[in-house]
Amino acid sequence: MAGVVHITTMVLIFGLGCQALDLLKATATLGDPPSTPTVHCWCSSYPNVTLCSWPEPLLSQPTHYLATYSERHSKGGAKMCHLIPPSSSSTSLTTVPSSSAFEQLWQCHLPNLKLLTEYILNITAVHSGGSSSHLTSFMLEDIVKPDPPVDVRVSPMATKNLLVGWSPPPTWKSMDIFPLKYQILYQWVSRGTTKSINLGPFENTKTELKGLIPGRTYRFQVSCALPR
Ligand SMILES: *[C@@H]1O[C@H](CO)[C@@H](O)[C@H](O)[C@H]1NC(C)=O
Ligand SMILES: *[C@@H]1O[C@H](CO)[C@@H](O)[C@H](O)[C@H]1NC(C)=O
Repeated sequence: MAGVVHITTMVLIFGLGCQALDLLKATATLGDPPSTPTVHCWCSSYPNVTLCSWPEPLLSQPTHYLATYSERHSKGGAKMCHLIPPSSSSTSLTTVPSSSAFEQLWQCHLPNLKLLTEYILNITAVHSGGSSSHLTSFMLEDIVKPDPPVDVRVSPMATKNLLVGWSPPPTWKSMDIFPLKYQILYQWVSRGTTKSINLGPFENTKTELKGLIPGRTYRFQVSCALPR
């Protein structure tokens, strides 16, 4: 086939309650408190890879953090959330959502969480002027967010058809509990306007696209979706 094919994969998440975190309380204890961290949590692999992140404040004040988590309806004590400072977080367990690539993010890792359990994360920022604790609650079900599919490939079929295939995210170990589905977005430019078509969700890891125009450049995005 004469067509030029341009392939990309992107982190796109559909139909998930990623915004389900709610800030329960922020308390300042002493003096001029450090700014409130905006905490974002996601689980890229059930049950052991849940990360919470928050931006490093731009203030020059050195801040350090204490991060603990506990089950809301349990008498058990709080456990330490394993802190990962900004300099090392880019190489950590999974991809950081790239809302702002230049922001330095603190992360902490919560291992081995349970389903149907409300967790409370307590991030305490401490600096010489005081400290403040920020409580965030979440249920694992609401923050499950798989990494993107990998190894996207495109091969020609008939003159106007292409076969698009991909592999599940290798970090996703729980197909039995949270089976993944996939969606494809493909885009092209026609007379200066971008057109796009969304397909899916499918369980298959390949699909045939029909009616493509030879010579046109197409851009494909394959994303994971969790059935709800
Ligand atoms: C998760 O971690 C626990 C112990 O921390 C381990 O026993 C278990 O096998 C791990 N599960 C997976 C799916 O890696
Ligand atoms: C949050 O953590 C800080 C520091 O560990 C602790 O002093 C504070 O009592 C905790 N807050 C709650 C509500 O558990």
